[in-house]
Amino acid sequence: MKQILITVILCATALVALRIAVPKSEKQSSVIEAIHARRSIRQYQDKTVEREKLEQIALAGIAAPNAMNRQAWAVRIVDSKEWIDACTAAYLPTIEGTPMAAHLLGDGFKNMFRNAPAVIFVAAQPSAYAGVDCGIMGQNMMLAAYELGLGTCCLGSPVGFMNSEAGAQFLSSLSLPEGYCLQFAIAVGYADETPEAKPRDESKIAFVE
Ligand SMILES: Cc1cc2nc3c(=O)[nH]c(=O)nc-3n(C[C@H](O)[C@H](O)[C@H](O)COP(=O)(O)O)c2cc1C
Repeated sequence: MKQILITVILCATALVALRIAVPKSEKQSSVIEAIHARRSIRQYQDKTVEREKLEQIALAGIAAPNAMNRQAWAVRIVDSKEWIDACTAAYLPTIEGTPMAAHLLGDGFKNMFRNAPAVIFVAAQPSAYAGVDCGIMGQNMMLAAYELGLGTCCLGSPVGFMNSEAGAQFLSSLSLPEGYCLQFAIAVGYADETPEAKPRDESKIAFVE
């Protein structure tokens, strides 16, 4: 009994010490770590993404700050291989012989969404803030996915196709609210590559005196 009591007291003391030893700012640094460790992933394992994870990602997305909290956005999640493959089959003839085809088709090509097994589409009601709102939402989703062990790639290239005649049926199948425009897609899946960080130009940052 005495031994149990001593163990409990020791554990409680260790927990209190840990709280004191790790300042709040350091505990929060995992967000900054994730920001710097995230990479655009373009090769994915043949592994289904759990719907619970996709839902968690979407919920992180709509937690984003947005102008006047209007939430004039729509999120659509596609994890159907049939849908992704059919969309890809309709897309490929439209890029035949273009640099995009050379860019996209290569070793390990599976589909137009950078080979991912799931895609999240983000649409918005056009407004001065739509791009900002959806952009912040997108980064929220990519960081949430990172924390859940998933890779992502923000994709602008499918938008033009889905707004074209050849892609109309796929856009329509997203059942977006009237007047909403597709902003981008996010490929999601278990990464099958570990790309190096792309360099960033730090001269873009300046303090103003
Ligand atoms: C709005 C937007 C559109 C993008 N479109 C594509 C795309 O169509 N295809 C692609 O492979 N990557 C696309 N990317 C990913 C960028 O190429 C990538 O973020 C950039 O090269 C930096 O690499 P990193 O994300 O690994 O840091 C897009 C990114 C953004 C933000």
